[in-house]
Formats: sequence, structure tokens, C-alpha cells
Amino acid sequence: MLTRTSGLSVLLLHFSSFLLLANARYFSVPGHIAHGVNDFNDNLLANYSSSSNIFSSFPPLAEIGVITPGGTNASLITENTPLSSIVATIDAFDFRTFLGFPPGAGPFNIPISQAPTFNLFSSSLLERVTPSSFESSSDPNVVGQVYLSAGVNDNVTVADWNRATGRMTGTCRNGTAHVYIEMQNALPNGLFSMWDVGVSMALAPNETLSLSPFGGIPNVLTTDRNGRGSISRRLNYCPLDECQGSSRCSLYLSMNYHFDHVVYGGAPTLDFGGLSAGQVAANQLVFILNGDVLIPVHNKFSFFLW
Ligand SMILES: *[C@@H]1O[C@H](CO)[C@@H](O)[C@H](O)[C@H]1NC(C)=O
Ligand SMILES: *[C@@H]1O[C@H](CO)[C@@H](O)[C@H](O)[C@H]1NC(C)=O
Ligand SMILES: *[C@@H]1O[C@H](CO)[C@@H](O)[C@H](O)[C@H]1NC(C)=O
Ligand SMILES: *[C@@H]1O[C@H](CO)[C@@H](O)[C@H](O)[C@H]1NC(C)=O
Ligand SMILES: *[C@@H]1O[C@H](CO)[C@@H](O)[C@H](O)[C@H]1NC(C)=O
Repeated sequence: MLTRTSGLSVLLLHFSSFLLLANARYFSVPGHIAHGVNDFNDNLLANYSSSSNIFSSFPPLAEIGVITPGGTNASLITENTPLSSIVATIDAFDFRTFLGFPPGAGPFNIPISQAPTFNLFSSSLLERVTPSSFESSSDPNVVGQVYLSAGVNDNVTVADWNRATGRMTGTCRNGTAHVYIEMQNALPNGLFSMWDVGVSMALAPNETLSLSPFGGIPNVLTTDRNGRGSISRRLNYCPLDECQGSSRCSLYLSMNYHFDHVVYGGAPTLDFGGLSAGQVAANQLVFILNGDVLIPVHNKFSFFLW
């Protein structure tokens, strides 16, 4: 009798997991190159008006620029910017005006590979040193000397920045998700953090922004010397659920490139602490989850590169 009951439950279990499989929602979302928050070439990447009032009121918010010779600030990247221009740190004026944080400490208008980072003697957030390139580090073992690993691109051009591609695939089932993120042709030996950018009470008068480390911390992906990287995450929600009528929804997943080689735990950058977007990190690739894409994907993801 006992055996029969367990036999029956096993059968039922199989049947219910079959039903669940049938209820699973598979997805594959391509990655879009970004130059900031909903920004490519100073144009909007996606129209979020059917998902968010707040987000659809944002202009493109640049987080990287290109060197302005002799200037104190980088220039915005537009469709007229030569692809050979060197990508530079920028005072992300529009971005900070929208979020209400003070100007960062800089320096601005320097190649992103020269963004200062910590060394052993740093005693505050803003006390940082410029890393040397792998080739020019004379004695890499001196305490306090920081150098970039071999293969880090120390003159990132707009063409290099725009070369990345990516794919987000996964399954939503019963209000949870398994997600797999892959990147190709991204900056080699790069450090990325992943952010779920969304809203609560979408389209209601009390709508608010929501931002969380994608899948919880550590939310970090690193690329190899060929610019490839991948990571999987489990979520206790489905990132593709619609915004309308939800208490919280995802608008896009951001792959935030940390050119200062530091990650900031539960924050993408320390915007209120003098280390703002544009100075230490920038959105490089985004997976648009709840928005109408305005700019087509640049680079096709290749199945055969792995
Ligand atoms: C976004 O879409 C809405 C609805 O279709 C439209 O009214 C609006 O003009 C669009 N905005 C942009 C910037 O394309
Ligand atoms: C830096 O450049 C951006 C983009 O052109 C601009 O919005 C911002 O005002 C500039 N900041 C300063 C301090 O000049
Ligand atoms: C990086 O670019 C600068 C300015 O164009 C140039 O002077 C320098 O030689 C380049 N460095 C490398 C390693 O290519
Ligand atoms: C589906 O999710 C609910 C709520 O999280 C949970 O109580 C239930 O056990 C889940 N069902 C299955 C078959 O996993
Ligand atoms: C936000 O507004 C909706 C109705 O539009 C309401 O149901 C909800 O309780 C409000 N939430 C908060 C936190 O005020």
C-alpha cells in the first residue's frame, strides 16, 4: 500500500513538473551597445513610455565621452564622432542633474584606461593613483604600484567600445527565473557589474525608480583576454514580466563597465560620494526587457565563437 502511494506521488510529481515545464517561458534578449543611461550616440536606445513615466521623461544620459584636445571635459559621442576617437571620462552633467548628485571629483577628459584606482596607501575614496600600462610598469612588485593586466586595452576607441555583443537567455517559471548572460568582443580583461533597472508602481502617480544588483551581490562578470564572459543567475521574479499593473518591473539589465577596476557593492557607482558614473564606470551593454527598441542591435551574437 505504502509503495503504491509513493508510486502514485512520484507519478503525480512527474506529471506536475511536466505541467510546469509546459508553463515555462523561454526567452532570448540581444545586448545593445550603450554610451550611458538609455543613450547611444546621444540618441534614445529605447522608448519606455508604455512601461514607465519616469524613464520616458529622461533624455539620453551620457556616461562616457571622447577626448576634447586641451579641454577640461570630454565631448559627447554622437553619430559624427570618428570611431577612432579615444573614449574619455566625462562629467555626466545631464545624469547628475536628473538624479541630483554633485559633480564628481574627476579627473575628466582622460582616457578611461587612465582612470585612477586605489593602491595600498589610499586612505580615502578620492585618494587614488593612475595605473601604469603592463608594458611600461618598470617594477611591478613595488608596494603601491598598480599596473593594468596584459591585454587591457589602454587606448579604448569608440570602435572598441561599440564592438561588444551579448545575449541574455533564460527561463521564467512559477514566478522565478534562471538567466544566462553571455558577452563577446567586449573589452578584454574587463570588470562589469550587472544591474536590474526598473520601476515600482509603473505608470502610477507614485511610480519610483528601482535599482538592484542583478541576482544579488556579487553581481560581477569579468571578460577574458578575448573579451568573452558569461554568468548565470537565479532570480525570485521574472525579469520579463510586464510593467503595467505590477508592483515592480524590470526595464533593462545594464552591464556596467568599471574602468577604475573597482566595484561598489550595492551601488553601480558612488554618485553621491564623488565617484560618479562617467568617472569610474559606464553602461556599456544593455538588455532591453520592457521597452520599444529604437536603435537596432549593432553586432550579432555568434553561437560559434565559444
Ligand atoms: C514613445 O512612444 C510613445 C507611444 O507610442 C510616443 O507617443 C512617443 O512619441 C515616443 N517617444 C519617442 C521619444 O520616440
Ligand atoms: C561636460 O560635458 C557634458 C557633455 O557635453 C556637459 O553636459 C557638461 O555640462 C560638461 N561639464 C562641464 C563641467 O563642463
Ligand atoms: C593612445 O592614444 C594617445 C593619443 O592618441 C597616443 O598618444 C598614445 O600613443 C596611444 N597609446 C597607445 C598605447 O596606443
Ligand atoms: C510556485 O510558487 C509558489 C510561491 O512562491 C510556491 O508556494 C509553490 O510551491 C511553487 N510551486 C511549485 C510547483 O514549485
Ligand atoms: C501607489 O498608488 C497605487 C494606486 O495608483 C496604490 O494602489 C498604492 O497603494 C500606492 N503605493 C504607495 C506605496 O503609496
